[in-house]
Amino acid sequence: MRILVTGGAGFIGANFVRLTLAERADAVVTVLDALTYAANRDSLPEDARLTLVVGDVADADTVDPLVADADVVVHFAAESHNDNSLDDPMPFVHTNVVGTFTLLEACRRHGTRLHHISTDEVYGDLELDDTAKFTADTPYRPSSPYSATKASSDMLVRAWARSFGVEATLSNCSNNYGPYQHVEKFIPRQITQVIDGARPRLYGAGLNVRDWIHVDDHNRAVWTILERGVAGRTYLIGADGEVDNRTVVETLLEIMGQPAGAYDHVPDRPGHDMRYAIDASALREELGWEPRYRDFRAGLEATVQWYQEHESWWRPLKAAAEQRYARSGR
Ligand code: NAD
Ligand code: DAU
Repeated sequence: MRILVTGGAGFIGANFVRLTLAERADAVVTVLDALTYAANRDSLPEDARLTLVVGDVADADTVDPLVADADVVVHFAAESHNDNSLDDPMPFVHTNVVGTFTLLEACRRHGTRLHHISTDEVYGDLELDDTAKFTADTPYRPSSPYSATKASSDMLVRAWARSFGVEATLSNCSNNYGPYQHVEKFIPRQITQVIDGARPRLYGAGLNVRDWIHVDDHNRAVWTILERGVAGRTYLIGADGEVDNRTVVETLLEIMGQPAGAYDHVPDRPGHDMRYAIDASALREELGWEPRYRDFRAGLEATVQWYQEHESWWRPLKAAAEQRYARSGR
């Protein structure tokens, strides 16, 4: 099977490539990645079955021959960080909207199967005291420029599937954690703060809830959809991992041998979504997927250990990420 993975040098994409090469002997993988600040060549393994093409997913001349040569495209490429989208939304429109459009047109021309990777943030947020969870029928209500562009990309995929018969599936997943995640993101930022002798930084009161899932559980769900998903369908991916941000920081501090209160509250993110929660029952009951990482604390311990043991991977990224945060006071 020839698989084109866009954004394969980023966090989830690189983990997908590693999992695929390790577990699928018949897979030959081409990664298309623009190698933005969020990418890292060192996240990808050396493997004769892997080719890296450096290029822009919004460039039709680059994308077309790659899609023509693929049996399936898994589309991870995106600008992915909410805080950055508040500072400068333009790259989000370019990659997330125009990039997805460009890929869809190539899939339409060549009849290539597409799996589009999206986020639960397209549904907006839930109240803390609400018992509801997001389902595939929840109306779209994105809050940030990032989530608005992801919502736009989902709409394009659905329209191309319905109007042009593009063989596409979609998935909307909750917050991922695990190895190779950029230090701008919440969990790696706090771990690397503590390693550096600095204090974790909690937005606002820290009551916001995220529904954490290990990146390998996300990627195994993507493989489940590739194998058994129905064209045109949307699947929500989540592992019942709701935890508030303050608890995450306090757990990390405990794991890393620091006092429970050794963190700072910093100004809140504008428009900050309060709570995400995924109902993944369609994926579980119809396709038979189950998460393997059920103990969040154990997953955090392994992630802390990974960052402690891979300083050469994240060290070159840390100062620039903190400089970007310093500009917003967060
Ligand atoms: P990431 O920022 O770590 O990686 C994104 C990758 O896309 C990078 O390697 C980057 O170089 C590449 N890229 C950006 N612009 C490009 C362009 N124009 N052309 C080609 N490549 C380009 O992101 P991630 O956290 O790995 O997220 C991957 C996907 O999963 C995204 O679509 C995101 O919306 C979605 N998602 C992420 C999460 C999460 O918790 N991180 C949860 C649900 C869904
Ligand atoms: O829900 C899926 C989404 O999860 C993905 O679509 C996004 O690509 C991914 O970045 C993530 O978005 P969040 O905005 O939820 O993730 P982030 O890691 O930026 O922040 C997680 C929570 O932690 C959020 O409530 C903001 C808070 N936070 C974040 C940082 C970086 C802090 O309190 N302090 C911080 O330093």
